[in-house]
Amino acid sequence: MDRLRIAGGKRLVGEIPIGGAKNAALPLMAASLLTDQELTLRHVPRLADIDTMTNLLVQHGVTITLVGANGKNGNGHAKGDERRANGGGVTMRLKADDVGSTTAPYDLVRKMRASVLVLGPLVARHGQARVSLPGGCAIGTRPIDLHLKGLQELGAEVVLEGGYVTARAPHGLTGARIVFPQVSVGATENLLMAASLARGETVLVNAAREPEVADLARCLVAMGAEIEGIGTDQIVVRGVDRLHAAEHQIVPDRIEAGTFAIAAAITGGDIELLGMDLALMEAPAKTLGEAGVAMSGTERGIRVAAGNRRPAGVDVMTEPFPGFPTDLQAQMMALMTVSEGAAMITETIFENRFMHVPELCRMGANINVHGSSAMVRGVASLTGAPVMATDLRASVSLVLAGLAARGETTVNRIYHLDRGYERVEEKLAACGADIERVRD
Ligand code: UD1
Repeated sequence: MDRLRIAGGKRLVGEIPIGGAKNAALPLMAASLLTDQELTLRHVPRLADIDTMTNLLVQHGVTITLVGANGKNGNGHAKGDERRANGGGVTMRLKADDVGSTTAPYDLVRKMRASVLVLGPLVARHGQARVSLPGGCAIGTRPIDLHLKGLQELGAEVVLEGGYVTARAPHGLTGARIVFPQVSVGATENLLMAASLARGETVLVNAAREPEVADLARCLVAMGAEIEGIGTDQIVVRGVDRLHAAEHQIVPDRIEAGTFAIAAAITGGDIELLGMDLALMEAPAKTLGEAGVAMSGTERGIRVAAGNRRPAGVDVMTEPFPGFPTDLQAQMMALMTVSEGAAMITETIFENRFMHVPELCRMGANINVHGSSAMVRGVASLTGAPVMATDLRASVSLVLAGLAARGETTVNRIYHLDRGYERVEEKLAACGADIERVRD
């Protein structure tokens, strides 16, 4: 299993191209199931989760081709310069003109929870879908009850059997008013896709406002859907009979950008995040600003400049967008371990999302967890250690800690990292980090 070896203490200076957002790409790929015509997605990041979604869609019968940055249809391995220019992404063409199977099998769904995003499009267009339940995962129980309840409200019959959920709507779905009791990104996306092909009007109340949800809605509009209230918590969808071909460029990854912003912050560095839009990251920018790290818009993206002093301790609470994202909580905690003062970090979205804490403590951090809050008391410096990652964002927080630590850090089990970060070690090394991938 691959590891990352990091010799800490290097100040990061330079520029990093930000790729297309993984969390936008996954639902956008699932949206290809809504039409028999071709959907073209640009800036698709090269990540293990994208491969899992590709495998899932291919087994449903979708034809997927990658147009590499080398200009030819191919395996998507683009050449160096061009990959760097767009953050590493590729163009993907998806055509679901011959969907043979409407079952999403356990083997694929258990690898990635976002597989459940095929449910809405399959029921809406094919009248039925059978999707394995995603099961427990490292960051809490994460049920899909909101997805299922919403589909039932659109008229689908939903049955749970043998670890699978089967949803049927042989005569099509019908629009409805759906009030989410809690904000859910995935449920909003699933129902947005399903409602696009339902009869009549659907209103999604207390919908997720994440930029990735808005990106999906914009792509659906390009495919012929009628949607109002994009980017708000009340989305109105007037169903159409069919959707058509479209081309869409994926929104840049605010979580990848936030992670590299914290890499600059934790090393006292100065990095420009190319292709990123500050408007998509107001909450992290405000929090980092309070810690003494300036983020400002530039012509090409965002500049992140750390001050000369250690970051100040800042309290953080995760919230749905536009609040501070849970997907940056572990990284922010890594920064706070070396802050001047203390920081209370409260996780409100997922239970059990503090698995990075014991590993950060092994590097000398001072953190105490009380329920959903962690009290971080800043230390002057961390020390390198062998550490192990347990989920995607936890892994990258250990990489960040390693960049700041004295001595050598080895981050083991980095397959988690490869699910969500494209060429992370190359991007960091280009700014002066001493980091390498060790293959066994
Ligand atoms: C998405 C993101 C993930 C991010 C999360 C929150 C993707 C592929 N993943 O995950 O990176 O951390 O949003 O921003 O986009 N819940 C229920 N019932 C449901 C659905 C959700 O109780 O049916 C709960 C979850 O357990 C969690 C909360 O709602 O506590 C929010 O989850 P949700 O927004 O649905 O997260 P995902 O869409 O799975």
